[in-house]
Amino acid sequence: MTDTNLQIRLVRRPTGLPSPEDFEIGEAPLPDPGEGEVLVANHYLSLDPAMRGWMKEGRSYIPPVELGDVMRGGTYGEVLRSNHPTLAPGDRVVGMLGWQSHALSKGDDLYRVPPEVTGPQALGVLGMTGLTAYFGLLDVGRPQEGDTLLVSGAAGATGSVVGQIGKLMGCKVIGVAGTEAKCAWLTEELGFDGAINYRTSPDLTKAVYQATGGKIDVYFDNVGGEMLDSALACLNRGARVVVCGAISQYNSDSATGPANYLSLLVNRARMEGFIVFDYAPRYDEARVELSRWVQEGKIKHREEIVDGLRNAPQAILRLFDGNKQGKLLIRIGS
Ligand SMILES: NC(=O)c1ccc[n+]([C@@H]2O[C@H](COP(=O)([O-])OP(=O)(O)OC[C@H]3O[C@@H](n4cnc5c(N)ncnc54)[C@H](OP(=O)(O)O)[C@@H]3O)[C@@H](O)[C@H]2O)c1
Repeated sequence: MTDTNLQIRLVRRPTGLPSPEDFEIGEAPLPDPGEGEVLVANHYLSLDPAMRGWMKEGRSYIPPVELGDVMRGGTYGEVLRSNHPTLAPGDRVVGMLGWQSHALSKGDDLYRVPPEVTGPQALGVLGMTGLTAYFGLLDVGRPQEGDTLLVSGAAGATGSVVGQIGKLMGCKVIGVAGTEAKCAWLTEELGFDGAINYRTSPDLTKAVYQATGGKIDVYFDNVGGEMLDSALACLNRGARVVVCGAISQYNSDSATGPANYLSLLVNRARMEGFIVFDYAPRYDEARVELSRWVQEGKIKHREEIVDGLRNAPQAILRLFDGNKQGKLLIRIGS
């Protein structure tokens, strides 16, 4: 067993896209668990668009990562040593243990992963992104059978699950993604009814109108910006716009709001944001349902895995240039 902890710290706040110089890679001695603590070896790190927000100074739903601190991140790993009353060596756990190969925890922030769930699943379809899709769509979007659901970022970790849950709810589902291969994956493998390549559509609003008949009942927004405006232009009466994220705006210091917001008034529509962490008391309910759908083959998932924690500062850029499909993960160690 190694006696060092590989760690990546945030040392500079990014301007625009994050760059490897914003991070420092170093090693620290492996810590010993204190009274009631466990030492966890992290096997996978989740890379999430929200991390870009955590690197920014200012008020948000969670404090920013301090300069010099290990970068925050969701992890899957295994308990190596334990002084904890209920966690034992070999237990597989998910937590927010950060961009590092090992971490100490008091255990109350860890979720024990059931035996049938793999590490990548525990961080993806059955982890934070699956939970985001579940609560965002079902609680905030409230889809009804026969509704038209539009999802942006549809070939990503969250969007791909949103669209498949939408199909299970009896919706007509249209996805928006950035390549032809992603669009084909949505319609040919995931069962979406249609897909729009936003990068090659000369008139995005027209493409959305044609695909949805101009009657979107639920728009699940992962992207913001121009995409949000195009969706707003095509709402049905009583539509629900779910503000899950706005990745097109995360690398900008001055995010722009939608010009077409009066469509909410005209269509008696509702636009509502949410943060998945607020649903923590109900996570188990979602995990049961999502696991069943995955086991029954009703929800398919895909992970893009990059080897080596040292590659995380470079790999995070793939969230923003779209060079990945499904959930983006770092495999730590061998
Ligand atoms: N509210 C919450 O509690 C919560 C929780 C988790 C995630 N989120 C949000 O959910 C969204 C999706 O997160 P995720 O983890 O599932 O990431 P993801 O969708 O797996 O990855 C991001 C995808 O966004 C697309 N994208 C990047 N830049 C874009 C742009 N300028 N315009 C349009 N599309 C762009 C890329 O695909 P293309 O090839 O299609 O461009 C990329 O693959 C993010 O906005 C995230 O912040 C919110």
